[in-house]
Amino acid sequence: MAITKRTFDVVIIGAGGAGMRAALQLSEAGLKVAVLSKVFPTRSHTVSAQGGIAASLGNVTEDNWHWHMYDTVKGSDYLGDQDAIEFMCRQANEVVYELEHFGMPFDRLENGKIYQRPFGGQSQNFGGAQATRSCASADRTGHALLHTLYQRNVSANTQFFIEWMGLDLIRDEQGDVLGITALEMETGEVMIMQARATLFATGGAGRIFQASTNALINTGDGLGMAARADIPLEDMEFWQFHPTGVHGAGVLISEAVRGEGGYLLNQAGERFMERYAPNAKDLASRDVVSRAMTTEIKEGRGCGDDNDHLMLKLDHLGADIIKSRLPGIRELAMKFAHVDPIHHPIPVVPTAHYMMGGIPTNFYGQVVAPYKTGPEEIVSGFYAVGECACVSVHGANRLGTNSLLDLIVFGRAAALKIIDDLKAIPHHKPLAENAADKTLARLTRLEDKKNGESVAEVKNELSKTMQTYCGVFRFEDMLQQGVEKMKEVATRVDNTEIKDKSKVFNTARIEALELDNLKEVAMATIISAEARSESRGAHARDDFPQRDDDKWLKHTLYFSKNNRLDYKPVRLKPQTVESFPPKARTY
Ligand code: FUM
Repeated sequence: MAITKRTFDVVIIGAGGAGMRAALQLSEAGLKVAVLSKVFPTRSHTVSAQGGIAASLGNVTEDNWHWHMYDTVKGSDYLGDQDAIEFMCRQANEVVYELEHFGMPFDRLENGKIYQRPFGGQSQNFGGAQATRSCASADRTGHALLHTLYQRNVSANTQFFIEWMGLDLIRDEQGDVLGITALEMETGEVMIMQARATLFATGGAGRIFQASTNALINTGDGLGMAARADIPLEDMEFWQFHPTGVHGAGVLISEAVRGEGGYLLNQAGERFMERYAPNAKDLASRDVVSRAMTTEIKEGRGCGDDNDHLMLKLDHLGADIIKSRLPGIRELAMKFAHVDPIHHPIPVVPTAHYMMGGIPTNFYGQVVAPYKTGPEEIVSGFYAVGECACVSVHGANRLGTNSLLDLIVFGRAAALKIIDDLKAIPHHKPLAENAADKTLARLTRLEDKKNGESVAEVKNELSKTMQTYCGVFRFEDMLQQGVEKMKEVATRVDNTEIKDKSKVFNTARIEALELDNLKEVAMATIISAEARSESRGAHARDDFPQRDDDKWLKHTLYFSKNNRLDYKPVRLKPQTVESFPPKARTY
């Protein structure tokens, strides 16, 4: 197969908030930037972010970055790296004002300042009264952010490759990253995109689960590419289950509903969160609320004929608030749950939402992995930001609205680092003749495979396995069985074929390639989860209900080759302030 090669200063894979924020900085610096996206950029999954972006502006309640830092460390169940968390929280106000100046249409308070609402786990004065920290554009904050960044990128001449999928990372013999291979989805054309810097911003991988708030495109492509190129994946056992996905549909109902005063009810009409989190109640952190909901259902207090969901009540907020602050939620509830929340509660269940783990990076977005001689080195030419990266600012549990913040802070920081790094890399490093061989072998296998299994069936088996064996509560025997089942599924993934090639559009090919990536993410998740014999943040083990700092205050590293695990210490020391030492976590 003839392969075209193009060269850029920087190739970015993914056009969500992180990719576009980085691209903007790089294009404005005069670099030649290519951004690949499987969908039109403004349809990237950031568009679905609803409730807000966290920053301690203090427009509604007194606030400061240090309180934000404390909440984020506590929310992470002390697994977050405190130097990175300090870096993020200190920069939050500046990056939000920057977005405002880019033209992002935030809602306004009466006094004209940016509107802020409370979200779970936000406190004043290191664990005191509820803080009001999430800056919002109604319940469509991600939509407003993404459109703003896209428009700025168009005017900065960023070059978009729309409906292109990244396939494999290209590394040279030393392990330095030289670019990627990519596929144009419409034509099937494969291209080498050579770059002095390659930045992954491919988002999450929620599609490893059956019920997820994630878009169909969230198949962990960056993680798959990294894992196949011998980069480890960090802390993959930590998956956030958002408390309020629409029952039966998985669609996200923003935590903003509870931030505006909505609350959860069980079958008896009891506001049960008062029992589990007497202070924060429905605004406890997400891992706490999701576990409480799962317990209510398990103990027979769920709602509906099958006692399998809970109710989110917001009618008491009144039609005006619902229509002005939560218009998107009302629309989603009517479309997917067939209820108008002005009059009736919304049936909800905890639903897979966010991957705390990812490709290991420092807080400049540089990928850090064992490669040349040391256990931890900066991989030359390779950067990752956003949900696909593990900085780690979210540790074992992310706080709501810290994700948009993460995208913008680290998108910008990585771009600034790349601009600096490229001064020392004035030319493209030489590319080997066989740079695309691995990709071509994968494509040829798919084309030539006969009597293989259907991609859709194996994909269903993968997500069913993950949902059943690696959900909100995890059990030793279930995890052990799950690992064995996932190993079988992984073998089946390698034996899939595209059925009836004469009739399929390239989407069938894309789904097969995505399945390779889902496989890497699912294996990393369940193997890391089985090994971690403690409960921390979103990883709740029935057999080890307590956090175990003596043994487990460390990050997991999963290596795809031989499914090997290794560990590295948590960075407990912040940049300039005192460390927050681990303590019991109550809300
Ligand atoms: O609930 C939400 O609006 C989601 C926000 C987030 O995941 O940060």
